[in-house]
Amino acid sequence: MMKTNSTTVLPRLVTAEAVKDKTVIVRVDYNVPLIKKGQNMVVADDRRLRASLETINFLKKRSAKTVLISHLGRPQDRHQPQLSLAPIARYLTTKLNLDCLFYDQAVGPSAQKTIKQMQFGQVILLENLRFEKGEQKNEPRFAQRLAQLGEVYVNEAFANCHRQDASIVSLPQYLPAYAGFNLIREIKTLTQLLDKPKRPFVVMVGGAKIADKVAAIRHLANLADSVLLGGVVANDFLKADGLEVYRSLIEDHQQKKDQDYIKLAHQLLQTHRLEKTLLDDCIPLPKIMYPIDMLAAGDIHETDRAKTQIVDLTKGMADKDERVKLVYADIGPKTIELYQKMLAGAGTVFWNGPMGVWENPLFSRGTRELAQAIGQNNSIYSVAGGGDTISALDDMGLTQKFSYISTGGGASLEFLSGQQLPGIKAILKV
Ligand code: 3PG
Repeated sequence: MMKTNSTTVLPRLVTAEAVKDKTVIVRVDYNVPLIKKGQNMVVADDRRLRASLETINFLKKRSAKTVLISHLGRPQDRHQPQLSLAPIARYLTTKLNLDCLFYDQAVGPSAQKTIKQMQFGQVILLENLRFEKGEQKNEPRFAQRLAQLGEVYVNEAFANCHRQDASIVSLPQYLPAYAGFNLIREIKTLTQLLDKPKRPFVVMVGGAKIADKVAAIRHLANLADSVLLGGVVANDFLKADGLEVYRSLIEDHQQKKDQDYIKLAHQLLQTHRLEKTLLDDCIPLPKIMYPIDMLAAGDIHETDRAKTQIVDLTKGMADKDERVKLVYADIGPKTIELYQKMLAGAGTVFWNGPMGVWENPLFSRGTRELAQAIGQNNSIYSVAGGGDTISALDDMGLTQKFSYISTGGGASLEFLSGQQLPGIKAILKV
């Protein structure tokens, strides 16, 4: 175990001595979008695949047999052909120049026999772990069967480290366990955000699924200088502060029975109500900021600009009746300008979740202009995470402009909420 400057303990990075001439099981996260092309399924976003290559090539060079294991989607313990990992092995071979075999079982004597017959230096990907009922139920027997496939375990699946799956938390109990290069990179980068961000530290959170984000918002609000909210997440905060959201999506206790997110949003706003951030060194603004205006329409699929309208949340609601059918689809121009100013002076930015329905060109402005404000400012250390955020950045050609793109969605948020991820804890053996 190594210690960073902070309180975070890093797991052991895989070493040449540990893997030389061994059969090494590498838990990767190849849960990536697949699209149908002709008769075949093809990989639509290969970032997670590329992130695993450094570790795999390291193992190949040390003449290890590399056994890749992963999940894909949520097949509910059943074999579902459209969620097979076969297209991913094909993609690794044809597009990423990594000769990768495939075997259509995740465990069992036939998989063991296939691995035994491999040559040292070869790589194989086994079938989707979640086709087996032991994986998500974290059954010890299933973890033991996985352990029979190799001699050493490497975790290179940061994006799945927040799950209590057998291949993540139980399998490392049976084998010498190490972290892959990308896993260490993720831990170091996110730890730096928590421990010593260059200030001002601005956190921008949008998108939907407040349930997955509220703990991170709560923790980061204590560490950051400002928290800028957008997307569906912002609606809960608007509602919590008594502002009108009309027919916009709200994620309250009716969506998720266990929590009342509007109440949580209200508590967060109250906690930080008196903390101010200075804009231009003189204008005091609340630490947690929600939009001051919204671009709204009757429907998020609207294609006619003339049918959209700006709702100014700082003004009264005199014409409320006309607006009753509106949904908020993007942040408005005043909010964009305000957030741009906040971002312009930032030292560090962490971003998760688009500001609006960016897939519809009518509602992409907020996400695009803020992504540009971050990406085009070289003095900002910028970290982005989350599938929708990365898709938006890719689509806008801005991914390369960010300092770091995390492979984790839920995992990076859980990490940033200050919790130790189960998958990292499981490999913290001395
Ligand atoms: C992810 O894509 O966030 C991880 O692979 C976890 O997938 P899951 O949410 O289906 O567990």
